[in-house]
Amino acid sequence: TLAVVSTDQPHPDLAASAFLKAARGEPVPHTPVWFMRQAGRSLPEYLKLREGVGMLESCMDPSLVVEITMQPVRRYGVDAAIFFSDIVLPLKAVGVDLDIKPGIGPVVADPVRTLADVEAIPDLTPEHVPFITEAVRGLVGELGGTPLIGFAGAPFTVASYLVEGGPSKEHAKTKAMMFGAPDVWDALMHKIAGIAATYLEVQVAAGASAVQLFDSWAGALTPGDYREHVMPHSARVLERAGALGVPRIHFGVGTSNLLGPMGEAGADVVGVDWRTPLASAIPQVGDRGVQGNLDPTLVFAPTEVMTARAAEIIEAGRAAKGHIFNLGHGVIPSTDPDQLARLTEFVQTYEG
Ligand code: CP3
Repeated sequence: TLAVVSTDQPHPDLAASAFLKAARGEPVPHTPVWFMRQAGRSLPEYLKLREGVGMLESCMDPSLVVEITMQPVRRYGVDAAIFFSDIVLPLKAVGVDLDIKPGIGPVVADPVRTLADVEAIPDLTPEHVPFITEAVRGLVGELGGTPLIGFAGAPFTVASYLVEGGPSKEHAKTKAMMFGAPDVWDALMHKIAGIAATYLEVQVAAGASAVQLFDSWAGALTPGDYREHVMPHSARVLERAGALGVPRIHFGVGTSNLLGPMGEAGADVVGVDWRTPLASAIPQVGDRGVQGNLDPTLVFAPTEVMTARAAEIIEAGRAAKGHIFNLGHGVIPSTDPDQLARLTEFVQTYEG
């Protein structure tokens, strides 16, 4: 019917989106800005909605996902929305016994150690995640001309939770598998890459206009180990995302020596954390865009200190093929939302 066709058409105003233009390396009316973890604990309206509702439970409730994703868009007027979910949600959806514990993060009941453990994890199909399709469709309708970023966790970062059983600093068990049990590692990385790619495909099929692959903990690797053991798997995810025709952002923390290979893995835009000045990141990523990279603690500084630093980042970003302003990692939960509102306005109206 007509109604179905029209909801499946991209909103006409998306063509003018500064975020999508920057992601494609086209000229922009202003530097676009959004914030990793812009939804979540820094917002009182989020805390209210989440009262008595578990994190995973909220991710599986389309009306909550729509509302939580919209909250920072309404409050800040950012140039993009990020889908409210988690990198471990698709694992939960295929039946992996895990939970997201408040203040801790993902905890996996039976950590993956053997080939049999890997083989016991089903591949993801769209039928596992009907609530994702429903939430994305609802969001795209609400967002109008504001693009929605779909996302997935990259194989290494998701593997770190599956193998360690929870958050870790050294990722010692994960890297022990990578170095010592190449067959198990290869099978696990293939498994997660397939799940991540399908998860992105579901989000884009339902209307997401861009994707971000989070390899948050890849900075734990040397460039050689990244290229040999991780990059081919992330590249398969980004290749499948590329076939969907949407821009791909690839982000990790502490990746100053991995920005080149993370771009080569198949990104249109490389996310940069705050430790690496954009001026040194840009030559490394070559003919790609960059995203970032204000130190998330600078929003706790006086407004003029924060905006002076933001101006330096915008100026440095002009040398890139495209620049999307962001923090260098997620919004810290105790952040004052009013300060993020001021930062958004500063970036969107900055003329230099
Ligand atoms: O606003 C957004 O950015 C979208 C939502 C989003 C969440 N997780 C919601 C969430 C996104 C993009 C993620 C990705 C994610 N999850 C990453 C990659 C990004 C990054 O931060 O590097 C990683 C490593 C995870 C795993 C994970 N899940 C962690 C480390 C945590 C935080 C633990 C804590 O409580 O400090 C989570 C839980 C989580 N994911 C929360 C939210 C809003 C907090 C849960 C809560 O509110 O109870």
